[in-house]
Amino acid sequence: MSTDERIRDIVILGGGTAGWMAAAYLARALGAGVSITVLEAPAIPRIGVGEATIPNLQTAFFDFLGIPEEEWMRECNASYKMGIRFINWRSAGRSTPSPRACGDGGADDFYHLFGQLPVHEGLPLSHYWLHRRRSGETTEPFDRLCYRETRALDGNRAPRWYDGRRAANYAWHFDAQLVADYLCRFATRRHGVRHIQGVMDHASIDDRGHLESITTTDGTAIAGDLFVDCSGFRRLLINGALGEPFIDMNEYLLCDRAVATALPHDDDQHGVEPYTSSIAMSSGWTWKIPMLTRFGTGYVYASQFASQDEATEEFCSLWGLDPETVPLNHIRFQVGRNRRAWVNNCVAIGLASCFVEPLESTGIYFIYGALYQLVKHFPDRTFNPVLTERFNKEIATMFDDTRDFIQAHFHYSPRMDTPFWKANKDLRLAPQFVEKIAMYKAGLPVNMPSVDADSYYHNFDEEFRNFWTNSNYYCVLAGLGLLPDDVPILAHRDAAVAAAELEFARIRREQDELAGSLPSAVDYLRRLHGANCPRTEAGA
Ligand code: TRP
Repeated sequence: MSTDERIRDIVILGGGTAGWMAAAYLARALGAGVSITVLEAPAIPRIGVGEATIPNLQTAFFDFLGIPEEEWMRECNASYKMGIRFINWRSAGRSTPSPRACGDGGADDFYHLFGQLPVHEGLPLSHYWLHRRRSGETTEPFDRLCYRETRALDGNRAPRWYDGRRAANYAWHFDAQLVADYLCRFATRRHGVRHIQGVMDHASIDDRGHLESITTTDGTAIAGDLFVDCSGFRRLLINGALGEPFIDMNEYLLCDRAVATALPHDDDQHGVEPYTSSIAMSSGWTWKIPMLTRFGTGYVYASQFASQDEATEEFCSLWGLDPETVPLNHIRFQVGRNRRAWVNNCVAIGLASCFVEPLESTGIYFIYGALYQLVKHFPDRTFNPVLTERFNKEIATMFDDTRDFIQAHFHYSPRMDTPFWKANKDLRLAPQFVEKIAMYKAGLPVNMPSVDADSYYHNFDEEFRNFWTNSNYYCVLAGLGLLPDDVPILAHRDAAVAAAELEFARIRREQDELAGSLPSAVDYLRRLHGANCPRTEAGA
């Protein structure tokens, strides 16, 4: 007779973005047979600030919960994001919020777009662009020639028409506090998740090394079969109680601090940019995350190269702020991950699992990516080690690939004008990444999705495994000025090369059509948010 080994009680430690995303997702995935408890310490501030995301947030997370896009967007002051604009990553100089003129007279900026890169006769269009560029037929940058969305971003357009049709792939910016609050309501009201307010005092461990319960400072013990550590940078269960080591990855990425704030913005005068900006600074970079009436911004810097005062001063002068009066949030972080994200009956998710600077908007993706993998590898109380080990491999690869790709931004930026930018050139790249760069340089596509563009965003397994695709490599590396040497085969394919001209002409036409016909992002967002529309604060 087989005994019932089902997991019955799940305890989630921490009620930030990760804790509430985990509660909602697991409740939905596991149904009523499992009871879920979230222990949240109300006095501990959430780390989440303005967040930028990627497109599969809807398909892989909110669709799974059955929540339509407009519903959660209205709850979280969400705005649209069609990509990331990198500003001043190529040229030396003082930090400025707008791109400066550089080299060839062009502006120092490029987009990393969510748009899909067309494939023409078996090769991505990037390769035809490169061929034209190498033969001197064009000096146009990659993003401007290969993506139909660029001019819509330039013109601060929405990614949808008013009739609701979608014109481009996009993701969202939102206020992470509001998302956590919204998912808390969703999980507790619609799925009966138990919400306990309190501070963890200690955890009890059985003789197998499994967590039995956590006890709060007022003496409440919460027992569980499976524990999810969402305690943020504290990593209370995975490191604290279970002693799993955290692997510091500062030898790949130098930034370890941020100074952040939210600033009012005149939408009527300037519109709302439908993209995240990443502005290169003397010892790191600054994010800009536009939402209605304001934007979130923060300078991510390396404490080896800038003191808190120096960073604050550079950040404030970027936006013309008075450091004495503006409220600033100073954040310290450590880049890296736990050696194993899942140990015995404890799974770490969110900042408690791993952290990499938010340069490519991967923070929230790491949360639902891990939740997806947890459900895919879901255990019973026998905790088959194969499930745990496979899960841990997936998370390690997810993190390490992203760390490598982010490191490439600093490594291949031609900037050498400050000690920070110079130091990045001396850091070692991981061997598996060096191999990918060699492929890229030799003219091979890197990680081409094996499914077509549209279904790519609906096939999470495929996307998870091949997260950084050829188009990501091209946008960022070609944007920084690192080009493949050549695509030798195209010297033998005159007909394909000639036909690619029609593709480029089509893209140019569609760029005009999109920029000309899409509503402005600010108008679209005001209509979408309706009565919930944030107002400009008095005096702002
Ligand atoms: N596969 C991801 C996507 O296209 C890659 C990605 C992460 C990305 N962050 C990004 C692409 C920022 C463009 C901009 O969604």
